[in-house]
Amino acid sequence: MKPFTILYFGDVVGKIGRTALMNVLPDMKRRYAPDLTIANVENLTHGAGIAPKQLQVLADVGVDAFTSGNHVWENPDGLAMLDDPAWAGRLIRPANMRRGEPGRGSAVYKTKDGVSVLLVNLMGQVLFPETVESPFTSLDTIIASHTSDRPNVVFVDFHAEATSEKEALGHYADGRVAALVGSHTHVPTADAKILPGGTAYCTDVGRVGAYDSVIGFEKKGVLERFLTGGDMPYDIPKKGQSEVNGIAVRVDVQTGRATGLDRIREFVEC
Ligand SMILES: [Fe+2]
Ligand SMILES: [Fe+2]
Repeated sequence: MKPFTILYFGDVVGKIGRTALMNVLPDMKRRYAPDLTIANVENLTHGAGIAPKQLQVLADVGVDAFTSGNHVWENPDGLAMLDDPAWAGRLIRPANMRRGEPGRGSAVYKTKDGVSVLLVNLMGQVLFPETVESPFTSLDTIIASHTSDRPNVVFVDFHAEATSEKEALGHYADGRVAALVGSHTHVPTADAKILPGGTAYCTDVGRVGAYDSVIGFEKKGVLERFLTGGDMPYDIPKKGQSEVNGIAVRVDVQTGRATGLDRIREFVEC
């Protein structure tokens, strides 16, 4: 029996990231034959949040579901989408926000073959100005809320800065979720693995965005910030090489555990 395959791409940063993802997606779909394709879109629109047009473009090319993170709140155009029934079940934001933010932190996505996938988005507590509930207890609460309608597969996007917090949550979730992958830092880590209990894990999948940059943004403005302490706006390179970082996770839907994974890192001229 063919394993259930999830294709996930880390933070898609701006137009160059969107273009790169659209360019590689047909080949990725041929190569991995995913049952579900997910992208983190917190930086989709000029690096800050989401807007309907850009999200629809990715949906049209075959991204099925969308996770996000701390920057999703930054584009007012996107806030209504988080509660829009048209996007329900396939667009989520961190579940453990303390404020009454719009949107949902988890969703059950049903594939065309009837496989139910519980999508969970969580944010870290370490090194963020935002105050959020514990991602550890939040994960427990979300999983417990699906005891009677147990999904076949649980996929977690853990949006966090600290590698320690990410590894810790990975081990905490091990055996209870099919995959827990990290986002937010925009830099891929080389530690993709299957944990002892059967959870696919990667500290950070990395960005889909400009290669010759600082985490997807123009070097000049970022360096000026560091050198002067100023608050210069971030620009995103309009063209050049983009890196595409992702992960393909294969899951046994009978057990809900991962059976294999491939780390994806490609470069596209945009
Ligand atoms: Fe990001
Ligand atoms: Fe982020």
